[in-house]
Amino acid sequence: MTVPSPEPVAEVAPLQILSPKRNKRLQTGWEGFFPYYAGYPELFARELLQSANLPRHAVVLDPWNGSGTTTYTASTLGLSSIGIDLNPVMIVVARARLLPPSEADHLRPLAATILSHARAQPPTLAPDDPLLGWFDLATASFIRGIEQNIRRSLVGSMTKSPDGVHLDRISGTAATLYVALFAACRRLVAPFKSSNPTWLRVPKAAEARITASPAAVARLFGGNVRGMADALGAKRDADQLVDDLPRLGDCRINLSNTTTMELAPASVDFVLTSPPYCTRIDYTAATRIELAVLGPLLSSSARALGRQMIGSTLAPQAPIDVDEAWGATCLQFLGALQAHPSKASRGYYYRTHLDYFDKMSRSMAHLSQALKPGGRAVLVVQDSYYKDIHNDLPKMIEEIGVHHGLELTQTSAFHLKSMSDINPGRRSYTRPSGATESVLCFSK
Ligand SMILES: C[S@@+](CC[C@H](N)C(=O)[O-])C[C@H]1O[C@@H](n2cnc3c(N)ncnc32)[C@H](O)[C@@H]1O
Repeated sequence: MTVPSPEPVAEVAPLQILSPKRNKRLQTGWEGFFPYYAGYPELFARELLQSANLPRHAVVLDPWNGSGTTTYTASTLGLSSIGIDLNPVMIVVARARLLPPSEADHLRPLAATILSHARAQPPTLAPDDPLLGWFDLATASFIRGIEQNIRRSLVGSMTKSPDGVHLDRISGTAATLYVALFAACRRLVAPFKSSNPTWLRVPKAAEARITASPAAVARLFGGNVRGMADALGAKRDADQLVDDLPRLGDCRINLSNTTTMELAPASVDFVLTSPPYCTRIDYTAATRIELAVLGPLLSSSARALGRQMIGSTLAPQAPIDVDEAWGATCLQFLGALQAHPSKASRGYYYRTHLDYFDKMSRSMAHLSQALKPGGRAVLVVQDSYYKDIHNDLPKMIEEIGVHHGLELTQTSAFHLKSMSDINPGRRSYTRPSGATESVLCFSK
C-alpha cells in the first residue's frame, strides 16, 4: 500500500510593509480630499493587501476605519470589506471615499441645485443648533440650509428609521457633499485651531463668532465640490486606460462600537487597522465642527460619543479593575503611572488609562473572534510617553493579542516625529523625541 504524501503546507508569504507614516506628498487627487491626522497612506494599505495574496472572496476588516483608507483600498482591489467606526463623521467620510468614479459628473449640478435652494429659503435655526457654537446666526443659518438640502434631496428613505437616520446607509453622493461642506466649515473655523493639530477650540461665550457671507460660504462649498468632481473624473479617466481593472469590491461601513461589536465568528480573512492612540487624542474633539454640521442626524450628543471612544479624555463613570489579560507590560506601566508623584497621575490619568486598556482588550477579543483560523491581522500602533514613563503600546497590544489567541508573526518599526512633540507643556520631562510606529502582524 502506498502511503499518501502529506499535503504540502501552503507557505504564508511575508507581508510587504512600507512606512505607515502619513505623507502629504502621497495625498493627492481623490485621496487628498480625505485627510485624517491619524491615518496611514493608501500606498501602505495597497502594498500590504496585495502582498497578502488574498483569494477573491476574502473579507477584509478595519474595526477602527477612520477616513476609510483600508475599505477604500480593499474595494479598489476588488476585495470585500467591512469598516467600523464609532464616530459618525468618519462613517460619512469613509462612505464618500467609496463614491464610484462614474459619478464624477453628477456632483456639480447637484451642488448647484442645493446651493440655489439654500439661498432661496434659509431655514429658521433651532436656538441650540451646534453650528451657533462657532458661527453667527446668519452664517450658521446658511450653512444649515445647505446641510438641510443635502439631507432632503439625497438622504433617502432607506436611510431613515424610527430611531433616526442610519448614517452608515447614506449614499456615496450625499456623503461626498457632506464632506465638501465639512471642509468648507473647517476652513471657516481655522481661527479656532489650536497648537495641537487635532484640537479645535470652542470659542468662549464673549468671543465673537465667525461671520461669512452666503457668497463666501457658497464659494468654499462649491469649490470643494468642483475639486472633488475633478479628482474623481481624473481617476475615472485613468481607470479607463487599464484593461484588467477589478470590479469594485463590496463594502459595508458600520457605525458601531468595537468594545461591543457583533461580527460573525470566523468570518474575516484579514484585518488591517490602526487602533485609537493612547496619547490623549480626543477623537470627537478633533471632529467637533463636522459633528456640528451633522447635528440633526445624530442620535447621541458629542459628549456621550466622546465617553464611548477608546482613548476618551473623560474619566470613566464606573470603577474599572485591572485585568491580567492586559499583560505584564501594561500592568507594569499602570503601576508606574499610579506611583507617579503628581496627584493627577494616580487619579484622573490612571482612570482614563484603565478605561483605554479595558476597551482595547474587549475590542481585541471581538477582533480575534471574528478572524478565521489562519487569518491575519495587521495593526499599526504608536508608542508614546506619559510624562517620563514609556508607554510601549505596541508591546502591550502584542500581549493583549496573544492573550486573545493571536500569534505575532512579523513586525516592522518606523521612527517618526510624534504629535506629543508639538504639544507644549510636556517639555519638562526628559524623554526621547518622536515616537516609534510599529506594524504588528498577527496570525490566528
Ligand atoms: C487611529 S484612527 C484610524 C485611522 C484610519 N486608519 C485612517 O486611515 O483614517 C482610530 C479610529 O478609531 C475610532 N474609534 C475610537 N474608539 C472607537 C470604538 N470604541 N469603536 C469604534 N471605533 C472607535 C476613532 O473614531 C478613529 O477614527
